[in-house]
Amino acid sequence: MPDLVHNVPQLAMPHLRMFHVNAVAIGWLSMGYVGAMFHMVPTLCKTKLWSESLGNFTMWAWNVMMVGAFCTLINGNTEGREYAELGAVLDVIVMIGLIAVAWNLYMTIVNRRVKKLYVSLWYFLGSLFWFPLVYIIGQRTFVALPGLNDAIIGWFYGHNILGMWFTTVGVGMMYFLLPRLTGAPLYSHGLSMLGFWGIALFYAPTGTHHITQSPVPEWLKAIAIISSIFLLVPVFTVLTNFFMTMKGKWGMVVTDLPLRFAVTSSMFYLVTCVQGPFQATRWINWYLHFTQWVVGHAHLALLGTFSFILTSAFYYCMPRLTGRPWHSQGLIRAHYWLKFLGFLLMMTSLTIAGLVQSAGWHHGVPVDQWVIELVPYWFFRAISGIMIVTGQFIFAYNVYKSLYTPVVVVAPVAKPREVKV
Ligand code: HEM
Repeated sequence: MPDLVHNVPQLAMPHLRMFHVNAVAIGWLSMGYVGAMFHMVPTLCKTKLWSESLGNFTMWAWNVMMVGAFCTLINGNTEGREYAELGAVLDVIVMIGLIAVAWNLYMTIVNRRVKKLYVSLWYFLGSLFWFPLVYIIGQRTFVALPGLNDAIIGWFYGHNILGMWFTTVGVGMMYFLLPRLTGAPLYSHGLSMLGFWGIALFYAPTGTHHITQSPVPEWLKAIAIISSIFLLVPVFTVLTNFFMTMKGKWGMVVTDLPLRFAVTSSMFYLVTCVQGPFQATRWINWYLHFTQWVVGHAHLALLGTFSFILTSAFYYCMPRLTGRPWHSQGLIRAHYWLKFLGFLLMMTSLTIAGLVQSAGWHHGVPVDQWVIELVPYWFFRAISGIMIVTGQFIFAYNVYKSLYTPVVVVAPVAKPREVKV
């Protein structure tokens, strides 16, 4: 309903969308990832975080940056590259935060008390090296090119924050969580390393698969599409490792809630990465591009896969960090079901809407006619959004209550003495 907020530009879809995307990418996933790594890296290294004050500084810097992002993006101040809309000052703050995180975690690993680097550390180290580089390349503050070159570089960045940051940290977290939650050792260290180098090799050149419907050089499109198919190799090494580690442990998802989030995430990862190469091929992309199908895929990856694994990490780490149990297991269950069912509804409605839309484009039906057909799908998508947001409020409430409710220690009740008559 674009006219609903007529004359209030701050509430117009493009402004809201820009803030939504940055809040998800940097506010939610990146900050959550950094929080999880601040716990996981010292745990794996059997040492303390190198500098807590530097960690706190990063936290304040990124939160202040998010306030700035809200004020600027909502008013339409943008650098105009997708996922890289932030202005120059905010970009510099993100970079300072990223370098601080990388330095802090590298130094923690340097000071480790164990010799072997567990596979999650490989993934974290790689991500912390790649993300700052990719971020610099992606921001017009640092690299501004004219015309189509800008689109190519923009999607090199856009794709590699997905592949060399959200994916690699998320997979590293899965490798940390699954053995701990199931009590089973990781199925294969060798396979996990093959996955690591496979991602490093095949992710970087795939960015152009986002713009195969634009006049960028054909050879670049070909490289991007072929690498997209080859991505199946690292994806299946990761998934084989997960599913084999889960062997004999599936029943645990009934009772173990962090494990339930982690397993759901790996299922969604499977679907994301089967869908990805399929839609990267030329003709399928020609049919599906510029439709809600792609929006469905994007949410499958960032909401389905990586938000679920981050939430699992949250539920696993917080009691260990604070020494307090979760306030309510019932609220965790409610969070899971609202987010899971809400997401399924969102994915289904977006995917079907995308197919209706592409049929409309390709049969030459005027937009104002097929757009009416999408109304029921928007309706279900709105319901799904309400479910997911409600789930997140429940999550936030549970976090708050777990942190601030005084823990009641119940004294053991003395057994009544037996009275001999
Ligand atoms: C084998 C793995 C994957 C392949 C081959 C793949 C392929 C693609 C392709 C071809 C598109 C563009 C569709 C279009 O615009 O026509 C796309 C979009 C997208 N993908 Fe993937 N994908 C994969 C996995 C992932 C993962 C793991 C993530 C998240 C970390 C992800 C996040 C996204 C997002 C956010 C978009 C939407 C970008 C936009 O705003 O236009 N994908 N993917």
